[in-house]
Amino acid sequence: MNNSSLNLIVLFGATGDLAQRKIILALFTLFQGGGLGNKSKIIAFSRRPWSDADYRQFIRPSIKTSRDEKTVEEFLESIEYVEGTFDTPASYERLAQKITDIEKRLESAALVFYHLSIQPEFYELAVNGLGQAGLAKERGEYIPRLLIEKPFGHDEQSAQKLEQVIEQYFSSDAIYRIDHYLGKQGLENLLQKRMTDAAFEASLTKDQVAEIEFQIFESIDIEGRGEFYEKTGALRDVGQNHLLEMFATATMNMPEGSVPAENMQKARAEAIQALHGAGKDVTTGEVVHAQYEGYREEKDVAAESLVETYFSIMTTLTDPRWSGVKIILRGGKALAKRQAQIIYRFKDSQEKTFDIQGTSGFTVPDAYEILLKEALEGNKIHFVSLEEIIASWQFVDRYKEQFKTVPLQFYKKGYNF
Ligand SMILES: NC(=O)c1ccc[n+]([C@@H]2O[C@H](COP(=O)([O-])OP(=O)(O)OC[C@H]3O[C@@H](n4cnc5c(N)ncnc54)[C@H](OP(=O)(O)O)[C@@H]3O)[C@@H](O)[C@H]2O)c1
Repeated sequence: MNNSSLNLIVLFGATGDLAQRKIILALFTLFQGGGLGNKSKIIAFSRRPWSDADYRQFIRPSIKTSRDEKTVEEFLESIEYVEGTFDTPASYERLAQKITDIEKRLESAALVFYHLSIQPEFYELAVNGLGQAGLAKERGEYIPRLLIEKPFGHDEQSAQKLEQVIEQYFSSDAIYRIDHYLGKQGLENLLQKRMTDAAFEASLTKDQVAEIEFQIFESIDIEGRGEFYEKTGALRDVGQNHLLEMFATATMNMPEGSVPAENMQKARAEAIQALHGAGKDVTTGEVVHAQYEGYREEKDVAAESLVETYFSIMTTLTDPRWSGVKIILRGGKALAKRQAQIIYRFKDSQEKTFDIQGTSGFTVPDAYEILLKEALEGNKIHFVSLEEIIASWQFVDRYKEQFKTVPLQFYKKGYNF
């Protein structure tokens, strides 16, 4: 982004849960602080037959926390609505027309950001739609960027295929893969500690650390999303992305120097590749996979479903710095508490815990605010590289196989694992 450019954010899935709860508020906060640049517009793309006014009225409650009515009005005025479905070329033509209209009105070529906040099964359709309508091509001096939510694929093969589809139209530089945990303040705190506290950083080796545990516990159950969860399970839902990015941030070899994005992405990818189970390595970990009682009675869940709503993987690392250190990854739903933590347990019985859900009591920027700001600036430090995605799917694919060799356990809702 430079301040003279027209920044145009096209939000696919503009009526969805994520858009309503997170993205619109993050865009508003950036708008309020000048973070969207001198000239910005938002195009809300979704299938409901709505006018601009309908959408603005619909989304207004998402920014109800602001008392700055004048700015709220200006922000809402900057949003225009395009009705469309992913499978109709006419929808993309309408979108193309809208982009051209806005460029003419504001007398500037647009730097366009397509944010795919839609169900993952539609990613390829939407990317093909954009590409075939010529919407991935540069406009003036600006190359459009694609922001894509997690999950990127549902296994290694599908992730590779999705990448191939995207790269038909968008260069790899223009792809921003989101895992919003990378924008969380709790992970940033850990990174800062590792960069600034030399004694702490020096203690992070096999000589002093006995084990490191990574947890993402949710107290809610699947909340009626049986169809989604049956295809996903806990390991794919939070393991492949959030837990492994927490793991990577906690164990990577810190990149030297000014820490540009590529070095950070490379360091995180190497950390994940060093886990037993990722890459060509054989799985060696101990696993538990379990399901809460009552899951099979949920809507759209198979009567004999073997999908895990909780998992625990205990493994180690091939990296010489950590060899022999126990790594524990645990996550799931309908558990006793909501908690996301990284716990280093040292051989002298000391512990150091990092709370990733952010219970510090300080007001910190939301993860989406951080990520969208970086995407506007062309900075990828908190975005996920293809290498990270592939290594994490290799790990998950192997452990999914290993689950089949171990009996599924059952637990009561609210169980404290
Ligand atoms: N929700 C979260 O907390 C969260 C967190 C992290 C990542 N994500 C990821 O973010 C993405 C979006 O999640 P979500 O929970 O917001 O999904 P969602 O609530 O199901 O929203 C999907 C959006 O796509 C629209 N849509 C569906 N089918 C369409 C079609 N054929 N043509 C045009 N529009 C269509 C929906 O319109 P209607 O409103 O008319 O149905 C809605 O706006 C997913 O990839 C998810 O994995 C979500």
